[in-house]
Amino acid sequence: MCGIVGAVAQRDVSQILLEGLKRLEYRGYDSAGMALISVQTNEIDCIKAMGKVEKLEASMKQRPFAGRVGIAHTRWATHGEPSERNAHPHISDDEIAVVHNGIIENYQTLRSNLQDVGYRFLSETDTEAVVHLIHQACRDEGLSLLAAVKKTVKQLHGAYGLSVISRSEPDKIIVARSGSPLVIGVGIGENFIASDALALGQVTDRFMYLEEGDIAEVTLTSVRIWDVNDKPVKRSITMITSEIASTDKGEFGHFMLKEIYEQAHVIRNTLNGRISDTHVLEEAFGVKAKAIFDKVTSVQIVACGTSFHAGLVTKYWLEDIARIPCHVDIASDYRYRNIIVQPGTLFISISQSGETADTLAALRFAKQADYVGRLAICNVATSSLVRESDFCLMTNAGREIGVASTKAFTTQLCALLLMTLVVARRHGMTDAVEQQYVRDLNELPALVTKTLELDPEIRTLSKALRDKQHALFLGRGIQYPVAKEGALKLKEISYIHAEAYPAGELKHGPLALVDEKMPVIATVPNDDLLAKVKGNLMEVSARGGKLFLFADEKAGFENDRNCKVVHMPSVPDVLSPIIYTIPLQLLSYHVAVLKGTDVDQPRNLAKSVTVE
Ligand code: M6R
Repeated sequence: MCGIVGAVAQRDVSQILLEGLKRLEYRGYDSAGMALISVQTNEIDCIKAMGKVEKLEASMKQRPFAGRVGIAHTRWATHGEPSERNAHPHISDDEIAVVHNGIIENYQTLRSNLQDVGYRFLSETDTEAVVHLIHQACRDEGLSLLAAVKKTVKQLHGAYGLSVISRSEPDKIIVARSGSPLVIGVGIGENFIASDALALGQVTDRFMYLEEGDIAEVTLTSVRIWDVNDKPVKRSITMITSEIASTDKGEFGHFMLKEIYEQAHVIRNTLNGRISDTHVLEEAFGVKAKAIFDKVTSVQIVACGTSFHAGLVTKYWLEDIARIPCHVDIASDYRYRNIIVQPGTLFISISQSGETADTLAALRFAKQADYVGRLAICNVATSSLVRESDFCLMTNAGREIGVASTKAFTTQLCALLLMTLVVARRHGMTDAVEQQYVRDLNELPALVTKTLELDPEIRTLSKALRDKQHALFLGRGIQYPVAKEGALKLKEISYIHAEAYPAGELKHGPLALVDEKMPVIATVPNDDLLAKVKGNLMEVSARGGKLFLFADEKAGFENDRNCKVVHMPSVPDVLSPIIYTIPLQLLSYHVAVLKGTDVDQPRNLAKSVTVE
């Protein structure tokens, strides 16, 4: 969602903060701002700009703007429209500046109380109430900045990662974390703060992760931390270099395309060290895993967006291969219904970022329920989801920058298939069957490479979709979640309205939409449902619908006037959801490029959704 970065140094920090914002921009991007304790005046100096960080950069070049202590923010609007007025930092009485990630749920009450005692609000944000509260505590009670922040956070309901500076205490930044991640970057004679270590890769590789409820005072030479009970605590320093992978697009026009092409390689990383020639190496799930897996008789999966689709695929695998029941819920819904936890149920959360607020909240809710264990399938080792779960399997996809998730999805599927096999082994799967699945998995990277060779053909096909307003995606059985993922990709980056249906459901309603203007996109592996899908596709052709098929080369489809076919390599059934996702990623990418949309940072979206 939004991004925070801050620094206390003996040098001008404006360019460090700017670089940090650029690195965080993939999270949220409707406006940006920076506040410094000015070297010229010792006052708070602030610049904000609508739009991307480059706009802020341009404004910063217009006048002298330098300071040794500062905080900065990229915003993804929640309270109040995207505008300069609503951009962070928010300032109280030219004295205190605050940047904030998260949502303050009781901000309206706080706001009206503050208005009653004379505070004038300049923005519609929830954050502005926070800065005035801190100011009030300093001014009226004579509290230090640290004490004022400690007092203020007790009045906040909701989620926050806060970073605060004050003109009267110009040597420090105070930060507070509850429900929104914050990390301290440790330097030599200088220190930094950010919502994601990625922002600070250019200045340090040593990081302290704040825990829930922590408040910290960061100066040039010291970092002091207090926990949720106001007890002084030490947080260990983690060295992170691989996390801060290059944010370079290389030869590719967009991160999304680069990430699609990385899939053969990163899938190999997901599998490396986790399978032998014959079986899955269960130890990869950690020391606690065996005892938990031994008790599992059903699974509850919770996730959002693309990760939810990975969960839907896993349901088919678990029920088919492990023969145990599996429920899959959208994280934002899961904790608001009266869930029933059957004995022996394993809770699995799936998330690329590990910071998605809804998924994290679901995990925290699940911790109160009677699950046999909580497994996280995640791409960020230092994320809250991983740290708060009983055990985890990392997807090892490397940093995903494009907002549209691609390699994170296919590596999630690999990790989830490994989990399925580990569970299935306890429910009657024979060694021979496991060995065949492992052989299939070992073939997967080569099959991905072969599928990527279809790119030029898919690019040509994409021209037919460029001017469409709507599209229908069809898939049957385990291909239905693939169709859902294809529709999500197309809508989020090309802004074409796309819907996915199980192919057999067409005649129960959506067939009414089909005419010669409606593109119908289907994935058709050569599996047990082939004959059924063929029947469903006939229903479309008979109504003049235009078919775009990604079909197994042996499935018997040929191009004609109303049907364009991309012939896919034959793949083992178990791998079909992974392989058939790839042409849909490429199709969406090329349509979006033809339409000229912002592929890596589509409108209204953010890479990591850290608000509910
Ligand atoms: O980081 P997560 O996997 O938890 O994110 C979940 C969704 O926000 C994410 O998959 C989103 O749907 C992507 N934009 C899809 O491309």
